[in-house]
Amino acid sequence: MKLAIIGSGNIVHDFLTITKDLKNTELTAIIGTTRSIDILDQLKSEYHIGAVYTDFDTALAESDFDTVYVAVPNFLHYQFAKKALENGKNVISEKPFTVKLAEFIDLKEIAMKNHLVLLEAITNQYLQNYVDLKEKLPELGDLKLIESNYSQYSSRYDAFEAGKILPAFDPKKGGGALMDLNIYNIHFIVGLLGRPEKISYLPNIERNIDTSGILMLDYGNSKAVAIGAKDSVSPIRKTVVQGNKGSIVVNGPTNEMRSFDVYDKDKNLLEQVDHNIYPHRMYQEFVEFEKIIQNNDLKEVATRLQHSEDVMWVVDQALKSAGLKLE
Ligand SMILES: NC(=O)c1ccc[n+]([C@@H]2O[C@H](COP(=O)([O-])OP(=O)(O)OC[C@H]3O[C@@H](n4cnc5c(N)ncnc54)[C@H](OP(=O)(O)O)[C@@H]3O)[C@@H](O)[C@H]2O)c1
Repeated sequence: MKLAIIGSGNIVHDFLTITKDLKNTELTAIIGTTRSIDILDQLKSEYHIGAVYTDFDTALAESDFDTVYVAVPNFLHYQFAKKALENGKNVISEKPFTVKLAEFIDLKEIAMKNHLVLLEAITNQYLQNYVDLKEKLPELGDLKLIESNYSQYSSRYDAFEAGKILPAFDPKKGGGALMDLNIYNIHFIVGLLGRPEKISYLPNIERNIDTSGILMLDYGNSKAVAIGAKDSVSPIRKTVVQGNKGSIVVNGPTNEMRSFDVYDKDKNLLEQVDHNIYPHRMYQEFVEFEKIIQNNDLKEVATRLQHSEDVMWVVDQALKSAGLKLE
């Protein structure tokens, strides 16, 4: 794919480190703000990116990329993705897909109408460890409980407490612990169980934003709890999946799924699994994106979008249940 990257922040720096191993990706352009022109120029030279732009319209007019990677703050995903799709480009959007469910549905409709690829960059759905965990699920018997904790104290929380509100904590910019960290747990759980019957979100709220929170998902015969925190930290960042015949413990947060352990019902360790094929968590998703785009595999896109829609629906219900309004 001929890729244009929008953004030059943390995740773009992270992503660029794997591009040397993405054999079917050409870094055609990078688009950012005039504020960050020095960073954009430095990334261009370090990673041999075709061109730098500080205006998306100019990039669309002058450059010949076929795919856009939207890696800007959450509230901007929708507008950049929409413009890209309307100009005939495939879109890979960082998580969360959009801030509002209605925005996601709008993007999906434009993509489908124009036979374009639209995908969410959500690492865990593409990790081999997640694929293998799904296959092992029947070994656990009847699934009873899932407990998932992704807590990471944010350096931006110190700034927030001092009165400087960065996008990750800004309700007007789609911030908060649910959108930023708990979203991975939601993807993990919804990828296994789909849409729950009942949803309840219990957030800690400061200045109208959830700095941490507990999400409860009721699936009838099984229940899930997802914890996300940006204001505190725990030495335990794990996910436990419990059935009546055994359990699985996922080591590390749900964005990486470094490995998982399978136990029988007597708590004997049966197997330790790490089938992730590359050390960086973003590699497998981008290899898959390359394939989907190369083959214009719209069937796979539809499956992936249904999953993302289910997640966006959960997010929408969760925010409503807590009376939280994000823009
Ligand atoms: N997949 C993952 O593991 C992962 C990890 C972290 C983040 N993310 C997601 O990636 C996205 C970005 O997060 P981040 O941590 O990289 O944020 P960040 O470090 O704050 O970077 C945001 C970038 O967007 C740029 N930007 C802002 N407004 C723009 C505009 N109008 N046009 C072009 N560029 C603009 C910023 O430029 P300036 O600095 O000049 O404003 C900055 O380069 C978020 O949606 C986040 O949820 C994903």
